[in-house]
Amino acid sequence: MKRQAEIDQIHPKLFATKRNKVVDSVKKNDLPRISMLSVEEALKSHVLSLDIDNCEAESDNAFIVADLGEIYRQHLRWQTHLPRIKPFYAVKCNTDPMLLKLLISLGTGFDCASKTEIQTILDMGVDPSNIIYSNPCKQESFIRFAAEHDVKMMTFDNADELYKIKRFFPNAQLVIRILTDDSKAIVKLSAKFGASLNNTGFLLQTARELGLNVIGVSFHVGSGCYDENAYVDAINRARFVFDQAAEFGFNFHLLNVGGGFSYSRKSDVITFEKIASVLGPAIDKYFSSDNICVIAEPGRYYAASAFTVATHIIARRIIHRDLDNEHVPSMDVIQNEVLAGDAHPAFMYYINDGLYGTFNCILFDHQIVTPKILMKGGKFLFGETLDEPKYNCFIWGPTCDSIDYITKNGRLPELLPGDWLYFEEMGAYTISAATKFNGFKRNKVIYTTTDPHVLAILYDALH
Ligand SMILES: Cc1ncc(COP(=O)(O)O)c(C=O)c1O
Repeated sequence: MKRQAEIDQIHPKLFATKRNKVVDSVKKNDLPRISMLSVEEALKSHVLSLDIDNCEAESDNAFIVADLGEIYRQHLRWQTHLPRIKPFYAVKCNTDPMLLKLLISLGTGFDCASKTEIQTILDMGVDPSNIIYSNPCKQESFIRFAAEHDVKMMTFDNADELYKIKRFFPNAQLVIRILTDDSKAIVKLSAKFGASLNNTGFLLQTARELGLNVIGVSFHVGSGCYDENAYVDAINRARFVFDQAAEFGFNFHLLNVGGGFSYSRKSDVITFEKIASVLGPAIDKYFSSDNICVIAEPGRYYAASAFTVATHIIARRIIHRDLDNEHVPSMDVIQNEVLAGDAHPAFMYYINDGLYGTFNCILFDHQIVTPKILMKGGKFLFGETLDEPKYNCFIWGPTCDSIDYITKNGRLPELLPGDWLYFEEMGAYTISAATKFNGFKRNKVIYTTTDPHVLAILYDALH
């Protein structure tokens, strides 16, 4: 294990805060500290650094450990299994600046959904040709902004968008987004976006009449896709539109296979490898020409597994007593009921991150999160299963709103205020949509890398 001092020695320029300037293509910007601790060690070292009884208010907030090494491993995995497809990371998924910097250093492109996302990526020194403005329904001033900054590639799926683009950015390179079968995805997108194959002819004809330049097809099978065949079906549809476009005199050369990719390595759910094993050959079969550039817009794939949230129990109520106003049992009775596990629930825990913060993913992204015990009674338990009775519990977020809960079906050993929980795989659609409702700050991110190459990659990008 290398501690910060050793890391500072490896790349003194990168980590010495005063000289820590981002030059070259990346905008001037201080890099935060990056340790080489394991995620477990990084969680532990932050919690141990807190003196809960005396620390400044808010320094005991929930926090996130981001493992940049995991992002790097995901990139290598992508290159191994889908070498023909250039990833354009979907910025909306997680806008963490170090995640973006690392992906820039690794040479990915970026899928942006708005003016601010485009601005963020341009400010980090990315060439406009490495950005696709992948929102089929765009605000007019945002189209003008894209034109002013030469971000040419953009998607559309309706005729009105073509008229807007004709007005504000007639030289744009357009990509027609087609409808897919999203029935095998957790987050469905097809009700909102995508031209049906009945309509693509009309849209291509309209584009032709307006003298616009349509260069290819894009699709999205839905986020959290759990059937690899959805990609094959979408590839077939894309082939149809490529052929149709040729009849209208277009020479398509871009295929964008969107997002939806699983990040999982677990055999009981769909893996990235399973998707790649059908998607790669389908692309080679239906789009064999080398002149066709294939890109994708993975979000969850890159961000999910690298981020771990740690939060502590700020308050607790033993609910059985509270629910029964008539009968107020003695503490002994309560303890016995709780130990017998027959209270419904036994405990209500209040933690310092919730639905309005990182856990908005429960609402917006249909995620199911699993609380694990990080520290109980001063003992670190990362990755351990406690041999103690488990009780039903509610886990509430910190705001005064009763929609703000993480689970009402928890089963955990008895915990006390001051104990810590952690939640893994919390990088996708979490911090990017977190609010400050009720005055709770967004979580601080602590960076580590479990792969030493990341330091060299970031260092090289700065020089
Ligand atoms: C246009 C577009 N591209 C890419 C993505 C990223 O999808 P995922 O995170 O499933 O890879 C999304 C997600 O909503 C999207 O809307």
